[in-house]
Order: sequence, then C-alpha cells, then structure tokens
Amino acid sequence: MARIAYVNGAYVPMDMAFVHVEDRGFQFADGVYEGIVVKNGRMIDLEPHLDRLERSLNELQIAMPMARGPLKLVFSETIRRNKLSDAFLYVQITRGVAKRDHAFPHNCPPTLVVTVRRLNLEAIRARAEKGVKAVSQPDIRWGRCDVKSIGLLPNVLAKQAAKKEGSFEAVLVDKAGYVTEGSSTNIWIVTEADILVTRATNANILPGITRQTITKLAQELQIKIEERAFTLDEAKSAKEMFLTSSTSCATPIINLDGQKIGDGIPGRAASKLLESYCAYMDQ
Ligand code: PDD
Repeated sequence: MARIAYVNGAYVPMDMAFVHVEDRGFQFADGVYEGIVVKNGRMIDLEPHLDRLERSLNELQIAMPMARGPLKLVFSETIRRNKLSDAFLYVQITRGVAKRDHAFPHNCPPTLVVTVRRLNLEAIRARAEKGVKAVSQPDIRWGRCDVKSIGLLPNVLAKQAAKKEGSFEAVLVDKAGYVTEGSSTNIWIVTEADILVTRATNANILPGITRQTITKLAQELQIKIEERAFTLDEAKSAKEMFLTSSTSCATPIINLDGQKIGDGIPGRAASKLLESYCAYMDQ
C-alpha cells in the first residue's frame, strides 16, 4: 500500500508529498520536529510529546499551525490512512515559505508535515535484549539542544561515525569530558551502588520523553536516580550503561569505544527497565 503523508491540510500519496523549495526548513533548518511511537494504534506519551513540541515552537517563536485537538486528529487520521498499528509518527513544523532572508518573514503560515512508517517493535526489543555497541564523539552542537530543532547535522555526523565503526550509537562528550547525550538518545549509567545516573535536562540536552517515563518507572521500582554529569571515564567503568529514546526504549550499551561495560552483557537494572517500559507501552 502506498504511504500517505499529511502536508499543509491535505493527505497525499508519499510520492506527491512536497514542500516548497523556499521553505525555511529546507533553507535554514528553521523548524522543529517530534517523533512518536505508535503501538497497537495508540500513540505512546502523546501529551508529553505535544508539550515538548509546543515548547520547542515557543522557544523559536513559531506559531502552532493548529490547536492541539485538531493536530491530534491529523495524527490519528494519518495513522489510520496508512493502516498501521505499530509505527513511528514524525511531525515537522517549519516557519513556512518565504523569500530567502535570515530575519523572520511577516504573516507567514508555518508548514506542517506528518508522516508515519511501520516500526518493528519486536526487533527493537530483541536488539535491546542483546545490547548494543557505542563509540564516543565530541559534542559539537549548538547551545540550545533543549529545542528539538530539525538542524541535526552534528547528530547526523556523529551517528555516521558510529555506524562506520559498526556501532549503534555515538555517545556525545562535551569539552570538559562529560557525556551530554547520544546522537539521538539520552544516556544513562548505573553505579556500583545501583544508582541510575543521567545528566540533568537543564544542561543543553534534549529532555527525552522516554527519559521522563523511565524516571517514573525507576521510581516505581524503587531504583535510586541521580541527575548529574558524568565523565566518559566514569561511564567506561560503570556497572551498566544504557540509552533511551522513543524508538529504542531502554537499550543496554555493552561496549563503549571497544571496551566492555560491566560484564559486556545487558545488566540487571537496564533489563528490568526495558521490561517495565515494554509493559508500560501495552497499558
Ligand atoms: N530522537 N536526545 C536526542 C538528541 C534525540 O534526538 C532524541 C530523540 C532523544 C530521546 O528523546 P525521546 O525519548 O523523546 O525520543 C534524546 C528521535 C527518536 C529522533 O530524532 O528520531
């Protein structure tokens, strides 16, 4: 079946889904996005994703293209028209189409695009049960990584560097030697005292929605959490390490820069959180 996209008010087949060449997203990466996992037709953590979308738009002074209610209907309708039950929904909003000029255009309606694609959640879980490899990369991103901007070139380059090394993720490290996050994930370690450590969201990282949910699930499991920066060296000598994102749940990192993390197999804390997160998605 041909995929259907929503583009500025119309549902169109993917091969006819276009935006203008002078869209500011295309010319300046002047826009934001969200990625939402759909399981059994239900959008996981929809409200927090919409909260973050509104926040990103606000920070860039881009108007919401429509109110939250109608936007949710567009999401549901796009999923329905694509006849998908497990999927990844992508929404992108840009400042719109205007003659190229860095400063904001006047009276410019934002561009709204929604696409969905099939997502193999069993394969994601199987990958998480095995664990993945990661490599470190310098964090060369801008100073507003809390905004889910479509300007992802440093993330793209870091992910490609990881892929070239046969790794799943790039762990980004700031100039002071501290881990910020992954190229498309949040990063956690588990200490010898079984405390989960992840960087605070006020420190130029994306406030991950999965990070937020995993925090709640860990609290329910009475696992202690510390929000603080940790160095690459601390990560390499941690008991466990894992990453979180909408499309990877909680996935153990079992090898970093060629060095085993812990025993080099998924650890207890990460495995428990993966299990709770999978159950949470089914609730
Ligand atoms: N990535 N950090 C970065 C830089 C990200 O791009 C993402 C999400 C996350 C995790 O956020 P969440 O838990 O809300 O998915 C952290 C998405 C999946 C992407 O770009 O495709």
